[in-house]
Amino acid sequence: MSDGGTLAGKIALVTGGGAGIGQAIATALAGAGARVAVSDIDLDAAQRIAAGLPGAVAIRLDVTSAESARAAVAEAEAALGPLDILCNNAGVSTMRRIVDLTEREWDFNFDVNAKGVFLVTQAAAPGMIARRSGCIVNTASMAGKTAVPLLAHYAASKWACIGFTKSAAVEFGPHNIRVNCVCPGYVRTSMQQRELDWEAQLRGMTPDEVSEEYIRKTPLGRLETPGDVANVVLWLCTPGAEFVTGAAIDVTGGAGLE
Ligand SMILES: NC(=O)c1ccc[n+]([C@@H]2O[C@H](COP(=O)([O-])OP(=O)(O)OC[C@H]3O[C@@H](n4cnc5c(N)ncnc54)[C@H](O)[C@@H]3O)[C@@H](O)[C@H]2O)c1
Repeated sequence: MSDGGTLAGKIALVTGGGAGIGQAIATALAGAGARVAVSDIDLDAAQRIAAGLPGAVAIRLDVTSAESARAAVAEAEAALGPLDILCNNAGVSTMRRIVDLTEREWDFNFDVNAKGVFLVTQAAAPGMIARRSGCIVNTASMAGKTAVPLLAHYAASKWACIGFTKSAAVEFGPHNIRVNCVCPGYVRTSMQQRELDWEAQLRGMTPDEVSEEYIRKTPLGRLETPGDVANVVLWLCTPGAEFVTGAAIDVTGGAGLE
């Protein structure tokens, strides 16, 4: 994708950039002229994506570690320059009924989806504050606005992500830093494939039947693509969105509205 270089000269860090939605975000930002640090806990995956993007570098980053977050921001800035854009996209899910959910699973979801957003934001924000410029876009979920059976722990972590996004927007606004999030619906990625298998098992259905149900629940009538999400993230990073902050934008094809 190219939009004529709206982000030429901009430097971006994308977490969870080695696959799925993060890969699409990194590709969209690079297509608009940004130089992207593609980061992931899976360095090989980040390297594969970065190799296909002009001016991109790959970085290992585990968002659950404050030390890893600080090191990754330093590495990205040493390689590319001061960060203009941070996309906190890394996320995980598991599926389980609340009565069977383990504390470990709860912590796993919260550590990546909620604490991870905080830690990488905290590592990147001081530089943005000093430069009085920055754009942060978090990948939340429609699960951060609705009730989601079998995903209560994941939903709670995404409600946390949206709450953090809105609070950070207020705290960072006076420093000219915008903070927004996108709330995707049923996106075709490896995370979704895992969820289809789990949900099928838990509900006594086939993965295809679950997938058809996702489509039925989506008024626009198809599964979402990573590119659908990346298009909106890209817009949030452009001057066209310069007065948008604290937003949690549904990118769901209408899923989750009822
Ligand atoms: N797929 C969906 O239907 C859907 C819907 C709504 C929101 N989301 C959110 O979108 C984001 C991306 O999801 P996806 O579907 O592309 O998933 P994915 O599993 O395809 O990709 C996630 C990437 O994050 C990386 N990652 C996992 N833990 C990490 C960690 N601790 N530190 C750094 N990187 C880590 C993985 O290695 C992987 O490359 C997540 O935040 C997810 O919750 C996905």
